[in-house]
Amino acid sequence: MTAPANSLLLERAGLPDDLRWLVQKYPRENWQGHANIHGLANMWLSRHDMFRELGGMLTSGIGDYREDRLTAPDFARWFAPRLNHFLGNLDGHHNVEDYQYFPAFAKAEPRLKRGFEILDADHHTIHEGLERNAETANAFIRTLEETEDRQRFAADAYANENSRLIAMLKRHLADEEDLIIPLILDRGDRALVEDDD
Ligand SMILES: [Fe+2]
Ligand SMILES: [Fe+2]
Repeated sequence: MTAPANSLLLERAGLPDDLRWLVQKYPRENWQGHANIHGLANMWLSRHDMFRELGGMLTSGIGDYREDRLTAPDFARWFAPRLNHFLGNLDGHHNVEDYQYFPAFAKAEPRLKRGFEILDADHHTIHEGLERNAETANAFIRTLEETEDRQRFAADAYANENSRLIAMLKRHLADEEDLIIPLILDRGDRALVEDDD
């Protein structure tokens, strides 16, 4: 589907205004004080925090390499399993959202349906970013046998893709939370995940 221009991931500053009525009722600073935060909502938030943390680790790891705090082989040994873990988990998380949670949530609150369409479109954009990330990471790892110049060039290319991906991911995670957490607080876990006739 074609998403409106203001919904594009790297160009938007948050959810569109017409999808913010529920988060205005349940602002982020009050989430942890709400009884319905325990369960699905906090599970969601902690999963997102894990992605933020892993993303930050990859970014700081590549900084360590570029500033010579890690040798190229040490960096590659450290980096490859973490990148795979990050990419694999993120992909799995998006699948569960797209096929399980988003349809149930959109059905529970049709006025937020367009929000779930935006989030679904984000997943495709992020997935393309993940693929470019894996390609540039593998290209970098292949240069470890080559000259230092080539290694640096490939590391720069990876770092650019990585920072683009992390920026997209941060925007997506925050907007997804703004759409979903207020809905969970408003309805409670049981109404959302068990009410599928
Ligand atoms: Fe998502
Ligand atoms: Fe998510």
